[in-house]
Formats: sequence, structure tokens, C-alpha cells
Amino acid sequence: MVKLSDDERAMLDGRDGAAVQKAMELLVRYADALGAEDFVYTNNVAGVPGSSPQWVKEYYAADGGDYRAVFSRFDLDSDEVVDVPRMNAFSCHLQGGMDPSMWQEQGMTEQAFANFQQDEAEVAAHGIQVLKTCTPYLAGNVPVMGEHCAWMESSAVVFCNSVIGGRTNCEGRESTSAAMLANRIPNFGFHRDEYRKGQHRVRVDVPVDSIFEWGMLGYFTGGAVEDTIPVLDGAISEQSLIRHKHFGAAAASSGGVEMYHMVGITPEAPSMEAAFGGAARGETFIYGPEERRAVYERLNSIGSSTDVDYVMLGCPHYSIEQIAEAARLIEGRKVNANAELWIFTSRAVKATAEASGYGDIFRAAGAKLMTDTCSAISQAVPKGTRVAALDSAKQVHYLPAMMGIEGWYGTTAECIDAACSGKWRGSLR
Ligand code: F3S
Repeated sequence: MVKLSDDERAMLDGRDGAAVQKAMELLVRYADALGAEDFVYTNNVAGVPGSSPQWVKEYYAADGGDYRAVFSRFDLDSDEVVDVPRMNAFSCHLQGGMDPSMWQEQGMTEQAFANFQQDEAEVAAHGIQVLKTCTPYLAGNVPVMGEHCAWMESSAVVFCNSVIGGRTNCEGRESTSAAMLANRIPNFGFHRDEYRKGQHRVRVDVPVDSIFEWGMLGYFTGGAVEDTIPVLDGAISEQSLIRHKHFGAAAASSGGVEMYHMVGITPEAPSMEAAFGGAARGETFIYGPEERRAVYERLNSIGSSTDVDYVMLGCPHYSIEQIAEAARLIEGRKVNANAELWIFTSRAVKATAEASGYGDIFRAAGAKLMTDTCSAISQAVPKGTRVAALDSAKQVHYLPAMMGIEGWYGTTAECIDAACSGKWRGSLR
């Protein structure tokens, strides 16, 4: 049984009201299932608290069919419906299901949009920051090294653990909603030093120096080490926030990587010894020219027609630097009459993009800058899409399979070229 502090015991006994009590009950069950001995305090939680499509509300019709019902019965797994107060922890809402101004282009109904607006008003009224992004670290929530967080969203979790040195497991909707109320999460997994040690080595023998290459290396790494912790060393260079973002998202998609070390690069890996931290070293995987080509071919195995009708950029959500680059590449050009270009980012980054003039460049080119979601999450692609081009290994892993379309993986420049020409002309150089 998990040990409780006096404060935690009081929350469980109802001192802070019924919702906090239900949250603690859920967290105690969760901690016991994990075998956690105690809780850590967290004041940084990212989830999707209480948000749901209309059909979920209808499922809870007998309980009132509203935000309160969904939060109580679904998020807190409570037998009864309770009043939901403002959250106690610093809480953020991750990505959602549609763009707030371009939902019609995404094929959403008025009813779905009205439901989306209602949920968002509830989220804000409960003291939750409306970040609406899979990249909270680009939109105002940057943890510090060692900070205990409770985050959902695999690409954000792997970034938090690996690049920042924050500490979070890949939480679920229920545990994050409960943590928002109780400021607690089980002291298990990545919260503990002993679970943050490297398990396998990935030796990189070919130059990995661009977003495109970092994405491919991530995809290879996840496939090799699955859900363990890789330690990478070798010819990795030109690190940047964006490259880590693409590497981690790809590794979390092809495997279940939630943390990685890069020797001399990430904060908990000043040396190979430190990265493994005395733990037994598993296998060594080599990433050389053959492996690189095989990854490229795998990522492009679901493309056959070179007639591209959809280009999606922004998985994970684009940073302002990537938006600037996309604007540079498309300025003065036009999206082909047979194609659409949708670029996804957070509301915060979009505001900066608009202020910086990039919104005008995209509009002049016929491209759309969208927020809150992406094609995989919203399952929204332009009507009639058959062949997509993507600059994200994660998105090419998911979108074609989900939507029954073909997909190509390439550089941002190749994707923008495809949007403007309607043709895929990408290749491995
Ligand atoms: Fe984000 Fe969608 Fe990719 S929510 S990580 S852009 S699958």
C-alpha cells in the first residue's frame, strides 16, 4: 500500500472537498497498481481535463451529460457526480479536436464546434491554461531540470524527460485530471533516478545533422529499442530544440521511447558512463548507411502515386522557427490548384507568426495555418485526399494508416515543393 503523508490522508478523508477526495482515491488505486511506495508533489500537469466529444456526454446522459458529469465519471472514475472546483496544480490543456476558426475547412459540424466551445469555456473556468498543443514547452510551459510533472502526450513526455531533464511518466487522462486537483502523482518510473538509466546503446555512424535526419534516426531508434531507454553516441550534430522534438516524437511512435540519452548532448548524459549510470548495458544497435536507407524506405513504403493532393506540416506542432522557414520556402509561390497545405501549431506560436507577417505569406500562397490539433488527432484531411506528403516521421507513421491514404516522408523543402507542384519529387541524398 502506498504511504500517505498527513496532508494526503486529509485529502483522502475529504478535507478539501469531494472532487479532491475522488482524485486522491483514484491516485491511491493507481499508485497501488504500480507498486509505488509514495507520491511526489507536482505543480505541472498537462492533460485533456474534461474535454470530450458530444457522444461521450450522451453516454453520461443519466448523470447530467455535461462537463461535470464527464469529469466526475470518466476523468475521476467516480461512482457519483461531484462539483468540480478550480484546479489546484498549474494545469495545461494539451491538443484538442479542431481548429477554433477553421473547423469548417476541417469538415467539423456546427454541433461539434458548439460542444468544443462549451468544453473550452469550462476548461478556462476551472483554472486550466488553454494551451491546446502537443508542444506545451513551446507555448509557455517549460519545466526545469528535476521538476516532477504529470504530462500526457508521448512526444511531449519524451522531450520533457530527455531534453529538459524534467520528470514525468506518460500519464493518461484520468491520472492527469486527478493530479490537477491533488497536486500528486505516484513516485514511480521516470520520477526515480534508478529508472532513468540507459538500457541499450545506439551507435550512429552516418551524419545526423538536419531535422529530416534526426527524424529518421528517431524512427530507427524506437524500432530498435522499443520502450526502453537508448543511449546514443556518434555522428549526431547540429542539435536544436526542433531536432530533439522530431527525434523524440519519431522514437515514441516507432517504439515506446519515453526517455533517451545522447552522450555529450542531453543533460543526464555528460558521458557514456553517466548515461548508463552503472546499469547493465544491453545491446548495441548500429545506425549506418544501410539502416538509414532502410528507415527511409520504410517511411516511404506507403507512397506509390506521385500526385500529391495534401501536404501537412507541424507534427509535433511547429515552432516559430519552423514557421519562419516554411514561410521563407513558400513566399512568392502558390499552393497547386490540386493540393492543399495545412500547417499546424499552437495558438501562442500562431499569434507570434501573425505578428511577424508569416500569416500573410501563407494566405497569399493559399496555405492554411491551423492550431489546436493536427490531421491525425482530428482525423481531418482535405476532402478527397488520396496522397499526403509529410515532414514528420511520426505523422507518416500514423496518418496514412488511420485515413487509408498514401503518404510520403521528406524534408520540409520537399514537402513545400510538393504542395506547389502537386508532385512528389523527394529522394534520399
Ligand atoms: Fe502533435 Fe498531432 Fe503530432 S497532436 S505530436 S501534431 S500527431
